[in-house]
Amino acid sequence: MCEVVEKATSIINKTLKMNGIKLNVLCELNAPILTHPNELVQVFLNIIKNANDAHTKAKKENPYIKIKGYETKEEQIIEISDNAGGIDEKIICNIFDPYFTTKDEKNGTGLGLYISKIIIETHCNGKLQVKNIYESGELTGVKFIISFLKNKPII
Ligand SMILES: Nc1ncnc2c1ncn2[C@@H]1O[C@H](COP(=O)(O)OP(=O)(O)O)[C@@H](O)[C@H]1O
Ligand SMILES: [Mg+2]
Repeated sequence: MCEVVEKATSIINKTLKMNGIKLNVLCELNAPILTHPNELVQVFLNIIKNANDAHTKAKKENPYIKIKGYETKEEQIIEISDNAGGIDEKIICNIFDPYFTTKDEKNGTGLGLYISKIIIETHCNGKLQVKNIYESGELTGVKFIISFLKNKPII
C-alpha cells in the first residue's frame, strides 16, 4: 500500500534512469498512510530530488536510492536512503532551516526540506528525521525517516 511512493517515483523515475541511479523500492506497509497524499508526494519528490542532486555531484560508483516502507506496532515508517556520501556533520543540524543550501543559486533554494518538515510535522502529524549512514567508519550516505503514529488522529 505505497501509492504515495509509487506516484512520486513515477514522476522522477526518468531523471534517475538518465543519471544512472538505481531506485530500489520495498514496501511492506499494510495500510495506506492516512494523511494528505498530494503533500506527501511533494515531500518524497523533494527528498528523492536531493538524493539525485547529491549523486550527480558525488559521482560515486553504483549510485542508488532505496525506499523502504514498513510498520511497527505503533508506527508506519518510510525510509529514503542513498549512497551519495552523506552530509557533513557540521551542517546536518541546519538542513531543515529555511534558505539553507549548499547548492548554487540556480540549483538550490534551500526551501525543500524546510517545507517538507512543515508538511510532515505540522500538516500530517508525523515526524521527519535525518541520519548519516556510516559503513565501517566511513560516511557513505544519508537516510531520511518519515514516521506516523498509527493511533494519532488525522489532521
Ligand atoms: N541526500 C542528500 N545528500 C547530501 N546532502 C543532502 C541530501 N539531501 C539534502 N542535502 C543537503 O541539504 C541541503 C538542503 O536541502 P533542501 O532544503 O532541499 O534545499 P536545496 O535542495 O534547495 O539545496 C542541500 O543543499 C544539501 O546540502
Ligand atoms: Mg532540495
